[in-house]
Amino acid sequence: MSQRIEVAVIPAAGRGTRMRPATRVVPKALLTVVDRPAIQYAVEEAARAGATEAVLVVDLDVGHLIQQHFLVENRLPGIEHVRIRPVVQEEALGLGHAVYEAREVVRDRPFFCLLADNIVRPGKDVLPALVDSSDEGKTSVMCLRRLSDEYLSKYGVVIPAGGEHDEPLELAGAVEKPGVERAPSRLGLIGRYLFTPEVFDILDGVKPGHGGEIQLTDAIDELGKRGRLRGSIADSDLLDVGNPLGLLEASVELGLAKFGYAFESQLRDRLGS
Ligand code: UTP
Repeated sequence: MSQRIEVAVIPAAGRGTRMRPATRVVPKALLTVVDRPAIQYAVEEAARAGATEAVLVVDLDVGHLIQQHFLVENRLPGIEHVRIRPVVQEEALGLGHAVYEAREVVRDRPFFCLLADNIVRPGKDVLPALVDSSDEGKTSVMCLRRLSDEYLSKYGVVIPAGGEHDEPLELAGAVEKPGVERAPSRLGLIGRYLFTPEVFDILDGVKPGHGGEIQLTDAIDELGKRGRLRGSIADSDLLDVGNPLGLLEASVELGLAKFGYAFESQLRDRLGS
């Protein structure tokens, strides 16, 4: 049986500028998708993969609202057994910095990392496949998707060490938002990761990179250079709720999954089909 990963880190301290004005006060992670905030989907997903602790990285000003969502009513169905452990990122210095802030809670354990603005499609969980490729939690595994041109400037892109169809898929590094010209492959990082605790030592030394931020992708690159990085290509993409159109699309898809024909017939009426 593969090793159980008990802890999940969920960074949720970004500014969410693409969702303004909704995020002027409310954290992006608390924006509602159908009937629950985006971050609750991530905690539920981690719980389905066996995690019993969720480290939520929140910001200093309004991060306590995220904490309250889980702790006011800590018996949310499906995540009753998940211990919620908020940590504060005082300044939004980048995703790599946010993950680093979780180190004292995670300590020497392998951990999942989930970006809350990406929600898995119903029935398309990806975390179990990451565990399967992780050599009992000894190798970091990145969830990947093949990207079209326009996304090569929006996502981190990995450097395959050998063939792109190798099993396991060994990786030699990663580049943040390279664009078509510089992209080392078409395989993009889509916001689900399994890290060994080695990533914290690496993040400790990562300097600000792309956009002046401390980039998680730069730490992933170093894991690849050390020969301890693998990829797992997901069958399905994730729903991106970090921008208004993506949030709408996700609401329709998850709304259809929840309400079925009642919602579908409403949509059809409006579309006249
Ligand atoms: P994004 O790249 O989506 O950035 O972060 P953002 O600031 O949240 O949103 P925009 O681009 O301004 O609209 C990816 C993930 O990393 C977290 C975010 O909360 C999001 O889940 N993050 C990013 C942090 O927790 N801290 C940071 O300093 C940066």
